[in-house]
Amino acid sequence: MHTASLRHDFPLFRHRPELAYLDNASTTQKPTAVVDAERFFYEHLNANVHRGAYGLAEKATAACEAVREKTRAFLNAPSARQIIFTSGTTASINLVAQSFAAERVKEGDAILVTAMEHHANLIPWQQVCLKNKARLLVAPISHEGVLDMTAFEKILRSESGKVKAVAISHVSNVLGTVNPISDVLALARKYSAVVLVDAAQSIATHSLDVQALDADFLVFSGHKMFGPTGTGILYGKEKWLDSMSPTVFGGGMIRDVAYEKTTFASTPQKFEAGTPNMAGIVGLGAALDWIENIERENIERHVQTLLAHATARLQSVPGLRIIGQAPKKSGIISFLLGDIHPHDLATFLDQRSICVRAGHHCAQPLMDFLEIPGTVRASFSIYNSKEEIDRLVAAIEDAQVFFGRLAIK
Ligand code: ALA
Repeated sequence: MHTASLRHDFPLFRHRPELAYLDNASTTQKPTAVVDAERFFYEHLNANVHRGAYGLAEKATAACEAVREKTRAFLNAPSARQIIFTSGTTASINLVAQSFAAERVKEGDAILVTAMEHHANLIPWQQVCLKNKARLLVAPISHEGVLDMTAFEKILRSESGKVKAVAISHVSNVLGTVNPISDVLALARKYSAVVLVDAAQSIATHSLDVQALDADFLVFSGHKMFGPTGTGILYGKEKWLDSMSPTVFGGGMIRDVAYEKTTFASTPQKFEAGTPNMAGIVGLGAALDWIENIERENIERHVQTLLAHATARLQSVPGLRIIGQAPKKSGIISFLLGDIHPHDLATFLDQRSICVRAGHHCAQPLMDFLEIPGTVRASFSIYNSKEEIDRLVAAIEDAQVFFGRLAIK
């Protein structure tokens, strides 16, 4: 992979060539094609979708609907009506929690999550459980960051018929763990639980075939896969989407409205009230094309090379502890450096133009389980290089001297 020429495709790196941007689990940078697609929409296509009876509005509608079809193909979904445009992973999960789960989970029932979920895949389920007097169950993980599949099945078995939904991240945003998602889905099916796969951290690197997985719901954000912020996808099985009620009401999602009652459009429109993020959706389409052009296998391979390099280099730093040692990891590596606070280290690294995330990564219960205040997290993408990782390691070694943890050699 020619990282240098790829970097040139990203306007931000052209403006900031010195940046080692290692915070891709938070958000990826955007290639020119995505920025241009949004600009093209505003300059040539801007009109409201599904409303106007004039040529420009029809073109805008066609541009957005083409992205729905593109997303269908990307996920190998059976039908484009199973693709709902949302503002991101968080909105997609909330939709399923507030519609699907809230309607089905009764007093005494349960929703099962894992101990490695970020807040977006935890709080929406917790709130449904609190409201419906149901129970939030948590499948344990090991200290290495591996989901305990025996315990997972035990919960499903002992709560058979009670666990109405399972919500699980494909890849942990903190530990980098790649969960055995096919096995999770097969087990959940065995016990008749419906599964939502949070693919926020895997969509840019892993091929996800919703039919092969037989996923009930799968969600992701555009901005973590080189697309615009404020875009996201909810994929769902037709039988679930058709049976779900909308939770956000307004224009564009109705069939008939009277003062007494309203009937709603069918899916996907019934879940897309209001004017959508049309330029963002068109930008998302450009991001999908960009990924298909590079090929996800190449992105995953590159990221795995960087992960192996980073793991080997960071392991050799005295006093550095890698948090998350699962055998199968994606391009995310969390660590602590002795007793230096993660925020202090991240600020030090920023002075060397190295961008990493520090803190609890929106996963406070996971931090509590690991008994740590937070971590420093480096996360990789296609435009990162081994040299950037070497810069990170050199800066960490300097930080040890700066913070008085190591003597100057
Ligand atoms: N979920 C994003 C992260 O892990 C924001 O950084």
